[in-house]
Amino acid sequence: MSEQLLGGIEKLKIERNAVILAHNYQPDEIQDLADFRGDSLGLSIKAAETDADIIVFCGVKFMAETAAILSPQKTVLLPDKLAGCPLADMITADQLRELKEKHPDALVVCYVNSSAEVKAESDYCCTSANAVEVVNSLPEDKPIIFVPDQHLGQFVSERTGRDLILWPGYCHVHVVITEQDIENAKTMHPDAVVMAHPECTEQVKALSDQLLSTGQMLRYADKSDAKKFIIATEIGMIHALKKQNPQAEFIPASEKAVCPNMKRITLEKVLWSLQDMQYKVAVPQDIRTKAKKAIDRMVEILPR
Ligand code: 13P
Ligand code: SF4
Repeated sequence: MSEQLLGGIEKLKIERNAVILAHNYQPDEIQDLADFRGDSLGLSIKAAETDADIIVFCGVKFMAETAAILSPQKTVLLPDKLAGCPLADMITADQLRELKEKHPDALVVCYVNSSAEVKAESDYCCTSANAVEVVNSLPEDKPIIFVPDQHLGQFVSERTGRDLILWPGYCHVHVVITEQDIENAKTMHPDAVVMAHPECTEQVKALSDQLLSTGQMLRYADKSDAKKFIIATEIGMIHALKKQNPQAEFIPASEKAVCPNMKRITLEKVLWSLQDMQYKVAVPQDIRTKAKKAIDRMVEILPR
């Protein structure tokens, strides 16, 4: 069955000059099918660079929207229209406008996990891979509003030594990983390196050795001499890491860290998406132009 699906996808991909991009949290078979797999920053760069006519974005809506903003001449398809990100929905453009009124001198940095409307209200956009570099690039005398993820914001504040005006958003997948989970995993695997995503709670991050975006986790594991890693992020990462380093051991900090929205994408939906050209993700021109300024800055400021 899956052979047939894969064959059908491959055929349509060629006929339509399409490229398949997949985030590191996608189901294993979608990661394996993709032309490019990566973190939010890497996928945004790929989406901007590709000369394909169609991008099938296997991820969540804000990722497909970012691709549509960067490449309006391409058709961007999200195979499941309900694949959203609850963190991105935790702040609306109206709420951000209200916050800006309270801090009229502040610059606004939004995490890429946000709607196109919120990006349009922001000066800079960032991902977890370059949030520190983006904030470090801003003038020292300017207050900074950082939305919507409070935990990434705390991490950036610590790394840059700057006070940020934070918004109380959070990722429900990362906050289920507890201090106890890390302590238990460390007791069972005392020789393992703990890698955590900055969206984890401050308590979990304090117990971790490395705080990294998903793409940075892959690069770190590849270069490291360590052979065992405890992974505090969405469990899709385990497949991505094992595929790259089959000789190393990757232990999920919590089996409960599953993003149901990422797992909405299936092989069937990718095939239907290419057959029916569904679901097209487009951003109205006025929002797109404003949001693009913030996103262009995000893809220009690369992590060290
Ligand atoms: P990365 O940018 O690190 O891939 O993370 C995206 C995300 O949604 C984290 O939950
Ligand atoms: Fe959003 Fe969290 Fe899922 Fe990432 S893991 S897409 S932040 S809900």
